[in-house]
Order: sequence, then C-alpha cells, then structure tokens
Amino acid sequence: MGVFKTLAVIGLVSAAIGAGVLYSGLIEVGADVPHAAPVHALLETARERSIAVRARDIRVPGLADEALVRNGAGNYDAMCVGCHLAPGLAETELSKGLYPAPPNLSKVGSGTTAELWFPVAEGQAQAPDVADGNLPQQPRRAAILIVDDENLVRSATAAMLREMGHSVIEAATGSAALDRLNSGEHIDLLVTDYLMPGMRGSELAEDAQDIRPGLPVLLLTGYANLAKGEAAGLPRLSKPFREADLARAVASLLSEGRPQRGKPRLRSV
Ligand code: HEC
Repeated sequence: MGVFKTLAVIGLVSAAIGAGVLYSGLIEVGADVPHAAPVHALLETARERSIAVRARDIRVPGLADEALVRNGAGNYDAMCVGCHLAPGLAETELSKGLYPAPPNLSKVGSGTTAELWFPVAEGQAQAPDVADGNLPQQPRRAAILIVDDENLVRSATAAMLREMGHSVIEAATGSAALDRLNSGEHIDLLVTDYLMPGMRGSELAEDAQDIRPGLPVLLLTGYANLAKGEAAGLPRLSKPFREADLARAVASLLSEGRPQRGKPRLRSV
C-alpha cells in the first residue's frame, strides 16, 4: 500500500509541476522562435501524427479537372501566397519571418521530397500488348498538321504519325497553324492539343474549318470536361493515349473523307 501511495503522490506532484511549467508561460510557442529540442520533437510528432491520421481517408482529386485546378489556384492565391509565395512574387514578412520557414512552393525542388522505391523485377520483360506490327492500318498516306505548344509532346506525337507513314507538319501555336493553313499547303488532317496558351484547340478547329471547309480535326485533350457544348462535334482523343489509339483515330478520320463537322458557316468571298 505504501508503494502505491508514494507513486500516487509522485504522479500528482509531477502533474502539478507539468501544469506549473505550462502555466508559467515558460514554453515559447511563438511561430518565429526556435523551440528547445524536446519541445520541437514533441510538436513535430504531434503534427506529423495529426496529419497522418487525417490524411488516411483523403483521396487526391484528379488533376485533369481544369475547373477544379483553377478553383484551387484561386484559393492558393487568396490564402497561401503570403507564406508560400508564387512565381514572380517577392518575399514577404511572413515568408521570411516564420520558424520553421514556410517552403517556397513556387520553386521546383523546394519542400518535402517524396521518394518512390520499386522492387527490381526478376526474369524476362514481357512484350507490350500492342506491338508496332499490330497498329491499325492507315487507309492512305496523309499530310497531317500537328499543333501542340509543348515541344516534347508535339514531337513525340509527330514521330508516331511519321511512323504510321504520314508526312507531318508541326506548329507550336494556333496562329502558326493558321498561317500554314492559309499558305495553301496541302493538309489532309489537323491534329491539335486542346489547352494551349493564346488559342485553344477548339478555337483553332473553328478557324481552320473557316479556312478549309471540311478539314477533319482531331482534338487531343487531357481535360475531361471541356465547357459544355464546346467543340461538341469534334472527334477527340484523351491524353495520355497509346500509339495504337492515335493510329485508330487518325485512320478512321482519313477513311471517312468526312464532310465538315459542326455548324456550317457562311463566308464572304
Ligand atoms: C502563415 C503562414 C502560412 C500560410 C498562410 C500557409 N502556410 Fe503552408 N506552411 C507554413 C509553414 C511555416 C510550413 C512549414 C512547416 C514545417 O516545416 O514544419 C508550411 C508547410 C506547408 C506544406 C508542406 C510543404 C512540405 O514540402 O513539407 C504545404 C503543402 C503547405 N504548407 C501548403 C499550404 C497551403 C496550400 C496553404 C494555403 C491554403 C498554406 N500552406 C498556407 C506556413 C503557412
């Protein structure tokens, strides 16, 4: 019994001391004051665990949703730039003065680094499902104008089209593409990215069909929800696509010899 009593007294006394330390105001919680190592470790653990427990059920939303991304950017602008900055924004009192310092999220490479580890596979690699030999046949060789502002993506798509036997003209912007169309050059098919600075693929498609009525257009889009009705009549291929998907879409457009899609337009001559 004596032992339990002693333990209880020790417990009470330590609790009282703990409460006293808390109450004394000795512990600094200012956001710009470095903490003592044990306090830092305690806070760090509390924060990490708090995030880990609550993050379990969070589903990362699809970044293909343009409206959602725009909304998020607006929220970031309204709530986060003061501490985490944005491209072109000078440092602020908050971004400089806090401890720990807020990572500059506008800079590639700042912040926490995530690492992914993959097990090394044993044995033979399997051939991909669609071997090149199985690509859908193209009805004819065609002259294709490919438009994408991202050089890497454009040249990769162009390489696929060339591999299918087509001759390819590349343009990095909608207006460069319109120049090519205006030049009278022979073009059988326009393949264009949807989201480009300056002129969207859907706008380019309309203007292109003004210049060349009946020109078939294939819209490459990573964005599931174009504005309602936007480019409604246009065949599209969602990114990322495989070479076989592209070959199929292009082959079907070339064999249709389709009449002009979308609303007919009157042109003054
Ligand atoms: C008052 C300043 C402040 C504001 C406002 C703020 N943060 Fe932070 N944020 C911080 C600080 C400080 C850290 C670093 C904490 C640490 O390292 O322990 C941080 C960390 C982060 C991290 C973790 C970064 C990493 O790589 O570990 C993310 C992500 C983040 N904030 C996002 C946001 C978002 C999104 C908003 C707006 C909704 C926001 N923050 C608003 C101060 C702020």
